[in-house]
Amino acid sequence: MKIGILKEREPENRVAVMPETVASLTELNVEIMVEKEAGMRSFVSDSDYQQAGAKTAARKDVMQNSDLLLFINPPDVDELGSVAGNTVLIGMMNPFFNKDLVSTLASKKVTSFSMELLPRTTLAQAMDILSSMATIAGYKAVLDAAQNLHKFFPMFMSAAGTIKPAKVLILGAGVAGLQAIAVARKLGAVVEVFDVRSAVKEEVQSLGGKFIEVEGATEDADAGGYAVEQTEEFRQKQSELIHQHAVRSDVIICTAQIPGKKAPLLVKKETVDQMKPGSVIVDLAASTGGNCELTKNNETVIYNQVRIIGNSYYPSEMPYDASAMFSRNLFNFIRLFIDDKGNLNLDFNNEIIKGTCLTHNGEITHATVKEVINQ
Ligand code: NAI
Repeated sequence: MKIGILKEREPENRVAVMPETVASLTELNVEIMVEKEAGMRSFVSDSDYQQAGAKTAARKDVMQNSDLLLFINPPDVDELGSVAGNTVLIGMMNPFFNKDLVSTLASKKVTSFSMELLPRTTLAQAMDILSSMATIAGYKAVLDAAQNLHKFFPMFMSAAGTIKPAKVLILGAGVAGLQAIAVARKLGAVVEVFDVRSAVKEEVQSLGGKFIEVEGATEDADAGGYAVEQTEEFRQKQSELIHQHAVRSDVIICTAQIPGKKAPLLVKKETVDQMKPGSVIVDLAASTGGNCELTKNNETVIYNQVRIIGNSYYPSEMPYDASAMFSRNLFNFIRLFIDDKGNLNLDFNNEIIKGTCLTHNGEITHATVKEVINQ
C-alpha cells in the first residue's frame, strides 16, 4: 500500500506526518510518498523524510498514486478530481462548515475520515487531534494575552510597592480552557472560570482556578463529554454573572463551544463597553463565530481600548510540536486499520472507525454531518 502525505498551503505551517511517524509506518510494510518541501515550515527537511524511509514527490504524483492520502487541511475541491475513487483520505475536513467538500467527497465515492469526528472516548484518546491542538491553543492564548497586557500577570512585592496579580477569566473549561487555567496560574494570575458542565468543577479547582457556578445548566450524559445548548433562562442568568466578573478582569480567554454549532455568545458588546481600558480578550472560538460579540476571525480588533484577539492559527504558530502531536495521533488512528503486512482493513463495526468516517460508498456516513449538510 502507498501512503501519501501532502504539503499544506500557506499560512498553515504544520505538516500531517513527521519523519518519526514515517519511520513507524515503514515498519508496517507500506510505501510512503511525501510531497516535496512538505515539512519545511515545521522545520523538517526532505532529507529528514528520506532518511526515515519516505520518497519525496511532486504534489500531483502524491495525489494520484496514493491509496491513503494524509493531510491537515483538505485539498481544494477542484484538486480532488485527480484522486482515484478507491483512495482513502484522512484529515481535518471541517465538515460542519464545508458543505462543498463533503458533497464532493461523497459524489467521488471516496472513503474519507474527518479527525474532528473522532469519538471522545478513553480508547480514542491517543488519536484525539482536536484535544492536542486545543492544548496548544490554550497555552498560546494565555501567552498572547500576557504579551499584550499592559500589566504583570504575577503579584510582585517590590521596593516600588506591591503589584497586584492580573485577573484572568476563562470561559469554558474543556481541553483548551484547562490548559489556559494551568498556564495562567503558572504565570501567577488569579483565575476565575465558567463552564456549563459540572464535571469540570473539580478539575478547575485542582488547577487553582475558582469555579463560578450558575445553577440550572442543561447537561447530557450522551453528549460524549461535550456541552449542549442551554435554555434562554440559563443564558440570561449566566450572561449577567459573566458580565459582573468580566468587567473586573484584565484578561478573558474564551474557549466555550458546542460541537457542530455556532459558538455560544457569552461576552456582549455592553460588557466590553464596561471593561477596563487595556484589557485583553483572546477568543479561541473565533472560527465558529466567537464567544465575544466583537470578535473577528483571524483579526485583532481594538474596541474601547480593549484588545480582542481572534487568532484561529495558534497550533500553526507552534508547528514543530503541533505537527509532532498531530502526526502521533494520526498514526494511532491509522494503525487501527493497517495490518502488519501493510494491508488496509477497514472494519466499520469498530466504533472509532465508524464514528470518524465522513463519506463511504457515495454516502455521507456521519449522521450529524448529514443532517447539518442537508439543512
Ligand atoms: P471542548 O469542547 O473541550 O471545551 C469547550 C468547553 O466549553 C466545554 O467544557 C463546554 O462545557 C464549555 N461550554 C460550552 N458552552 C458553554 C457556555 N455556554 N458557558 C460556559 N462554558 C461552555 O473544546 P476545546 O477542544 O477545548 O476547544 C475550545 C475552542 O478552541 C473551540 O472553539 C475550538 O474550535 C477552539 N480552538 C481554537 C484554536 C485556535 O487556534 N484558535 C485551536 C484549537 C481549538
